[in-house]
Formats: sequence, C-alpha cells, structure tokens
Amino acid sequence: MHLSLAQLAALTAAPVLVSAAPSVERRQAQKVTVNLGQKYQTIDGFGFSAASQRANLIVNLKEPKQKQLLDILFNTTTGAGFSIVRNGIGSSPDSSSDHMNTILPKCPSSPDGTPDYKWDGKDSGQLFLSQKAWEYGVRTIYANAWSAPGCMKTNTNDANGGSLCGVSGATCRSGDWKQAFANYLVKYIQLYAENGVKVSHLGFLNEPDFTASYASMLSNGNQAADFIKVLHPTLQANNLSHIGINCCDATGWSVAGQHASQLKSSGVENLIYAITSHEYTSRISGRLNTAARSWQTEYSDLNGRWSTAWYSSGGAGDGFTWANTVYNGIVNANLTAYIYWEGVQDRATNNNNNEKLVLVDGQNYEVSKRLWAFAQWRIVRPGAVRVGASGGNNLKSAAFQNTDGSIAVVIINSGTGSASVGVSLTGSTLTNPKAQAWYTDNTHDMSSTEVAFADGTATASVPGRGMISFLIAGTVAAPLAAPPA
Ligand SMILES: *[C@@H]1O[C@H](CO)[C@@H](O)[C@H](O)[C@H]1NC(C)=O
Ligand SMILES: *[C@@H]1O[C@H](CO)[C@@H](O)[C@H](O)[C@H]1NC(C)=O
Ligand SMILES: *[C@@H]1O[C@H](CO)[C@@H](O)[C@H](O)[C@H]1NC(C)=O
Repeated sequence: MHLSLAQLAALTAAPVLVSAAPSVERRQAQKVTVNLGQKYQTIDGFGFSAASQRANLIVNLKEPKQKQLLDILFNTTTGAGFSIVRNGIGSSPDSSSDHMNTILPKCPSSPDGTPDYKWDGKDSGQLFLSQKAWEYGVRTIYANAWSAPGCMKTNTNDANGGSLCGVSGATCRSGDWKQAFANYLVKYIQLYAENGVKVSHLGFLNEPDFTASYASMLSNGNQAADFIKVLHPTLQANNLSHIGINCCDATGWSVAGQHASQLKSSGVENLIYAITSHEYTSRISGRLNTAARSWQTEYSDLNGRWSTAWYSSGGAGDGFTWANTVYNGIVNANLTAYIYWEGVQDRATNNNNNEKLVLVDGQNYEVSKRLWAFAQWRIVRPGAVRVGASGGNNLKSAAFQNTDGSIAVVIINSGTGSASVGVSLTGSTLTNPKAQAWYTDNTHDMSSTEVAFADGTATASVPGRGMISFLIAGTVAAPLAAPPA
C-alpha cells in the first residue's frame, strides 16, 4: 500500500486516526548518515547558458513574465537558484542567424596594431541576463569564447575550425596573434566590468576537437597551453589575476582527459582554474587526473522532442534522468560545477528539442522538469564542501556543508515506491537544529514537505522515483575526534 503525501500529511495531522487504525503501515525510515569529517571537493555551482542569442528571448519578454522567468532561473527560494551563467564571447563579424557578434569586427593589419573595438552594449542579450543574474547574487560568470575573430586564425574565418595564429603548428603570414587575442579577451572583461558585471572565469575554446559550421577553433591541450602562457601574464598585468582560466570545453569526457594530461605535461596545470568538458561525445565516467577543478560546462538532450516529463520511462530529456546525470558528475567525477546547455530556447529552433530548460514561445514560457531537477541542488550554495553521505536502499545521497554552516543533503529515490528517509550526522553534533525539505516528482516542483526532527534525525518522505533535498541549519559543533582514516 502506498500513501500519497497528502494522505500521509492528513495522517500526521490526525494522530487519533493513526492509533485507531493499526493496519496502516508505519514504514521504518531509511537512514542516510552524513559524515562531516569526510571532506571532498568544494562546489562552484550549477548553471546554464543563453549563448547564441537565446538571452534575447528573456530580454524580449514583457513584465510580469520577464521577472517570473528570472525568478524561475535564479531565485533561491522559488526557482532553480542557478549560481553560474556561461556566456559566449562573440567572434562573428555580424549577428546573422544566431551568431554572436565580436567586439573586433575588423583586425588591425598586424598583431601589434591598435584594435578598433566596437561595443554594442548588448553582447547578444547576455549582458542583460548577466546584470539580472548579478542582481540575484550570481557571482560566477563564465565568459567563454567559441573562437578568436577570424582575422587572428589560420583559416581567416571564425567558423569552420582553423587555429589561432601563433600556437604550435599554426603559423600565419600576418604574424602571431596570441597576445592580440589575450588583449581582446581582457577588453571584453573590462567592458563587462564597466557595466556592473565582474566576469569570474574565462575560457577561450569551445569544443576545440570539432570543426563546426559556426564559431569554432581547433586546438589540442598543448596548443591551448601555448596560449595560456600568454593569457595568464596578460590577466595579471591588467589586475585580473583573480579570474580563473578554464580549458578547454572538450566535446566529451575522454577528450577532456587528453587535455588534462597535455596541459599538465606542458607545465600550465597550475595556471588553470578548471578543466572543462561537455558530455556529448563521451559521457562522464570517473575523475579527471588533475589538480585543477573539473567542470561539466555544456550538455543537453539534443534528440528528443520537447518534453516536460519528470519520469517517462527514463528518457534522455526526463527530469529524473537529469537528476541522476548531475548526481553522477558531482558524486562520482569530482565535479565542482554542472552547467546545462541552453537555459531558454524558442519552439522553432532545432525542431523544438530538449536542449533547453525552458521553452520561451513569444510572450509565453513553459518550464521543463529538468529545471526542477537542477532546483533540487539549489540548497548547495557556491563554496559548499561535499562531505560523506551513505545508507538506504535505492537511495543515492550527496551531502554538503555550506559556508554558513548549514548542511544540504540531496537524495534521489531510485525505487518505485515512496520512502521515509531519516538523515542524521556522525562526526559532529547539531544544536538547535532546524530542518526543511523539498521534493520533486511527476506532480511536484520543489514542494515543501514536513520534516520530523527527533533524536538528531530529520525524517521526511520522498515519492518513488522522486528527489528530496534537506537543508539542516543550526549550530554545528566541529568534529570532536579526528575522522577515521
Ligand atoms: C525570490 O522570490 C521571493 C518570493 O516570491 C521574493 O520575495 C524575493 O524577492 C525573490 N528574490 C529576488 C532576488 O528577486
Ligand atoms: C592595478 O592595481 C594597482 C593597485 O591598485 C594600480 O596601481 C594599477 O594602476 C592597476 N593597473 C591596472 C592596469 O589597472
Ligand atoms: C577533486 O578535485 C579537486 C579540485 O576540485 C582536487 O584537488 C582533488 O585532488 C580531486 N580529488 C580526487 C580524488 O581526484
């Protein structure tokens, strides 16, 4: 017998009924134990992109819809609470199709000539989105060039691959453009700063193992290292040494593994913030061998037709599938950030597929359950340290300690039946605890649910194939004894 949460709530509210009906199953809570003494990676956050002019869909929404959608994306109490925005630094000479236009439509005739930058104050809608994200407290702005402008490349085109003139194996009659490209990226960051948005991370490649008909620039890890050796001192010389250099946004995890080893052997691993990868050509499996952080910076279901389902037989676009995808990256692959591909997209593009979290159709929008899968992670704030979590049948759990001391526990119930889950701590004691929990399934989106707190255990119910997030606040005493080795 399975009780709905509403039935359970009714039973809880009516204790007389419970004692009068001994036949009602009182399921034993499954225990999830959090070990604050067991520390793993420090989380940077969760995010999305609105590159390729998708941000304009938000720019063009009228109030109150625009604010509603921004809340759905960034609000930490009512929405997904995203903490990272990934912007595309444009390289295209114009804005035709969905191209991202460059701030340098025409290069000087030689690399040391004075560049004639043109700033349109829009950056394909991404400046507006970034300013709004900033208002919500988002501080991780990942600016990522898909390519250098064509005039700096072997193929004189920002599209169709080609290499940056001056990296190993790429010589051009016009000279070595590495320094000019570094200066260009600094200029972009300065323009954002002048408009109130501090870029925090910088990437200069997107899928450099793939020649695309749109902005694309080929590079292996050794060639990327050639450029990083110029970019790093250029950031320092411009008082931008706090900006993290990310590399190289590979098409898939196995290519990212090659980048990691090439960047290390080229002596630049210590100049890099994160090794970045997508999951298209190979899915995340295991950890990258690097001392740098690991970010998954772009992935989505490119094939399925638009779906808002949480669970429909485990399809690639299902919210529940995405709950597991993000979980796998964070828990099994040491990721410190997971970034979806497009946050928003229209109906016409790519035959209305699932590469977006939210469908924006003129003045209307529709939210997929993939967004609510990400929302379940919103209680894990930037700077949180992942800690130990274990226990339960059919439960996948991940726990974190936020910088304010609160403990976030994110749990997926892989079983088909609902489960009562009791979260407790080892290695530390909570005093004066307050616990809250939210869950998502086919018919709920981060719905608040009642938590019972007794004997140091926070207990709540999660539906079958559902997800629940506990936020336990209170004073946490440091571990009294060293955790077991
Ligand atoms: C988030 O939503 C809540 C509830 O609607 C609202 O009070 C709050 O102002 C929103 N936060 C921001 C930053 O807009
Ligand atoms: C960098 O900061 C220092 C100290 O604040 C300042 O003197 C210098 O002018 C700055 N340089 C640039 C390029 O902004
Ligand atoms: C996990 O990533 C961090 C950087 O975020 C790194 O310092 C650490 O060595 C990695 N851990 C493992 C076990 O690979």
